Amino acid sequence: MRFRDKVVLITGGSSGIGKATVEAFLKEGAKVAVFDYHLNNDDTYNNYLSYQVDVRHSEQILTSVEQLVSEWGKIDILVNNAGIEFVAPIEETTEEDWDRVLDTNLKGLFLVSKTVLPYLKETKGVIVNTASQLALVGSSYFIAYTSSKSAILNFTRSLALETAKYGVRVNAVCPGAIDTPLLQRQFEDGKRGPQGTMADLVAMHPLGRLGKPEEIAKPILFLSSNDASFMTGSALVVDGGYVIK
Ligand SMILES: NC(=O)c1ccc[n+]([C@@H]2O[C@H](COP(=O)([O-])OP(=O)(O)OC[C@H]3O[C@@H](n4cnc5c(N)ncnc54)[C@H](O)[C@@H]3O)[C@@H](O)[C@H]2O)c1
Repeated sequence: MRFRDKVVLITGGSSGIGKATVEAFLKEGAKVAVFDYHLNNDDTYNNYLSYQVDVRHSEQILTSVEQLVSEWGKIDILVNNAGIEFVAPIEETTEEDWDRVLDTNLKGLFLVSKTVLPYLKETKGVIVNTASQLALVGSSYFIAYTSSKSAILNFTRSLALETAKYGVRVNAVCPGAIDTPLLQRQFEDGKRGPQGTMADLVAMHPLGRLGKPEEIAKPILFLSSNDASFMTGSALVVDGGYVIK
């Protein structure tokens, strides 16, 4: 019960890695709030609140953060996890595609962090950002996605420097390919566009399989816990060996 009575806010908590992280925090005694633009009506957890928020919109974030704090009184941990992928060659990536990916993955993280930070200063809280293994290496046909994810790492470092004096730690996790709806959607036509098949993707991971959402939730809980009390500004790579190849 490492997180008894801690208040955790998770963006993109309705699906995949975010949902597994919600469940892991609840099991360890936390109260968990989700910001997502798609809410699951079947979530009947105790100690759970969900708000329909598009992380690209500052007014929606502000209203819901204020509601959350009036409900539970504080915020201890922020997990910036909402994100979307987009696979296409640069010449087939439109300006709208670029804006949608960068606004969701990067601007959303900026807006939510900025709004929640005053509360984290009060609790000497923690931020964990979900980046990607594609923050660390290039990848053809992922121009917008890799640009957004590598920027998250320097966002993490710069914010960690800015908040260290308040006792607020900021870290990132870099997952490899994880078996979530986001990943499955990319293979709906049997192929991940020009990147090839699922077997091709699996072969890029030396451990020879996709990761499970729970295998990212656990590192996120570690970074959020006192076990990581001397970690800030770091990027924890959890990718089945993808980037060392
Ligand atoms: N699955 C992977 O292979 C993988 C690998 C590396 C990094 N990631 C990252 O992990 C994070 C979670 O991905 P996932 O695979 O669990 O995806 P997912 O699609 O299963 O879940 C993402 C959630 O984010 C929400 N979301 C998307 N845009 C939003 C917005 N503008 N406002 C509010 N909510 C929004 C979605 O509704 C969804 O519930 C993302 O940031 C993704 O880039 C995923």
